[in-house]
Amino acid sequence: MTAGSGRSSVTVTDNRTGKTIEVPIADNAIPATAFLALKAPYAPGEREENDTPYGLRVLDPSFMNTAMIQSAITYIDGNKGFLMHRGYPIEQLAEKSTFLETAYLLIYGELPSAKQYGLWQWEIMHHTFVADDLAKMLKNMRYDAHPMSIFISAFAAMAAFAPEANPALQGRDMYVQNKDVMNKQIVRILGKATTIAAMAYRLRIGRPFNAPRADLSYTENLLYMMDHMAEPNAYRPDPRLAKALDVLFILHADHEMNCSTSTMVHVGSSLVDPYSCVAAASAALYGPLHGGANEAVIRMLTKIGAVENVPAFLEAVKAKKELLFGFGHRVYRETDPRSKIIRQVADMVFDVCGREQLIEVAIALKDAALRDEYFTSRKLYPNVDYWSGLIYKAMGFPLDFYPVLFVVPRVAGYLAHWKQQLDSGKNKISRPRQVYVGPPRRDYVPLDQRPDRAVSSASGLVDLPHYMSKRRLHKI
Ligand SMILES: CC(C)(COP(=O)(O)OP(=O)(O)OC[C@H]1O[C@@H](n2cnc3c(N)ncnc32)[C@H](O)[C@@H]1OP(=O)(O)O)[C@@H](O)C(=O)NCCC(=O)NCCS
Repeated sequence: MTAGSGRSSVTVTDNRTGKTIEVPIADNAIPATAFLALKAPYAPGEREENDTPYGLRVLDPSFMNTAMIQSAITYIDGNKGFLMHRGYPIEQLAEKSTFLETAYLLIYGELPSAKQYGLWQWEIMHHTFVADDLAKMLKNMRYDAHPMSIFISAFAAMAAFAPEANPALQGRDMYVQNKDVMNKQIVRILGKATTIAAMAYRLRIGRPFNAPRADLSYTENLLYMMDHMAEPNAYRPDPRLAKALDVLFILHADHEMNCSTSTMVHVGSSLVDPYSCVAAASAALYGPLHGGANEAVIRMLTKIGAVENVPAFLEAVKAKKELLFGFGHRVYRETDPRSKIIRQVADMVFDVCGREQLIEVAIALKDAALRDEYFTSRKLYPNVDYWSGLIYKAMGFPLDFYPVLFVVPRVAGYLAHWKQQLDSGKNKISRPRQVYVGPPRRDYVPLDQRPDRAVSSASGLVDLPHYMSKRRLHKI
């Protein structure tokens, strides 16, 4: 409540008509649909496509201030640099929990009892095998395919291997009505995510796939499937690296309505199967502005090369010729709390694998940026991707595998949001509106009556080049 009327609402007057509406505020949010009550006649000369008599629209490109859902899963205070899952601060989870326990917390809302935790681990580690035909399909991918392409394709294909999990075949409301089927897909997806990730890696190095092992922890098993070669007494990954990866997985498990998780909610709202949803969400994560940023950070640091090149690089960033990858965040206006924890994990990994050379460049770049008015005035601080790439590099993962190490744990967050949406009983298909600014209605012109137009690349109206091999240009 504030000084004034004391009412928890906003009053909006439409100056076109003089109409006033009172819009209720709940949890410091107002419903966008309330504005549909503000209807007005078309102003003289106004475009019909504005739909003015049908109610006022709310335009928010890139969702700068639009809450897509009500959620009980994750909270971020971007101004203070604070993150919590189901009420538990990320620092406590990173120190005391495990990835699978945090995944349970995210998906089911509470920390599991000892018995629940045991069963949860057992189920996930016994759902790690993928169908042999799927493995054969993946083997047909090119050896140099980006591992995220393989990950996305594998999840999209997995839907075809689970017809019993497909609402298109089993009934639209199958996940609302049958929680057993929902829980089964959750453990299958979490279990298989590491197997697919390891397969994407093994394809790259031209080695056969390793079968998963249920006697190892989640991250141990991932490292085992990636790295086991010909050791006679089955290879056991270094427990310190498995632990470091587990902490990284906790840090990446969820981050509320980021680009990929909101994709999961958006696609899931159509009630399509969860494998297809994970494929779509993973595709969103793959982009350089999201989960691909950790890979981009290493490419950037490698390009800078040495501490003395940092000032020139920062000048290029300020001139908008370069982007400082690993800096900035839509929500954080303070240092991302995960980046502070990750810095400690980095030292843990360097103790085992040796100090990563680029760390000196990374520290110098971060320090210089944090002293620079360009970055401080825009509240641009290091995000989680700034350090994670260095850890992955020190551990010897190939550059293009980094987004895979981000998406595997983020699958837990995807599933938590998918389940929350379907359990809410309020699922409606996500269908944003738009503001049409294109040509008004016009009549079709037959081909032979159209004038020759000047070629314009700005409008996309171009003479297309010949995309085929020059050898085929020859006309007989
Ligand atoms: C994360 C990110 C996409 C958020 O974007 P956003 O919320 O739309 O922020 P904006 O692009 O509006 O940025 C606001 C201003 O800061 C600048 N800015 C933002 N991030 C920047 C960065 N990493 N390097 C240089 N300038 C940056 C923008 O150019 C803009 O400057 P302007 O006011 O002069 O136009 C953006 O910060 C970014 O591209 N970061 C690098 C990629 C990255 O690390 N992504 C991982 C996110 S976890």
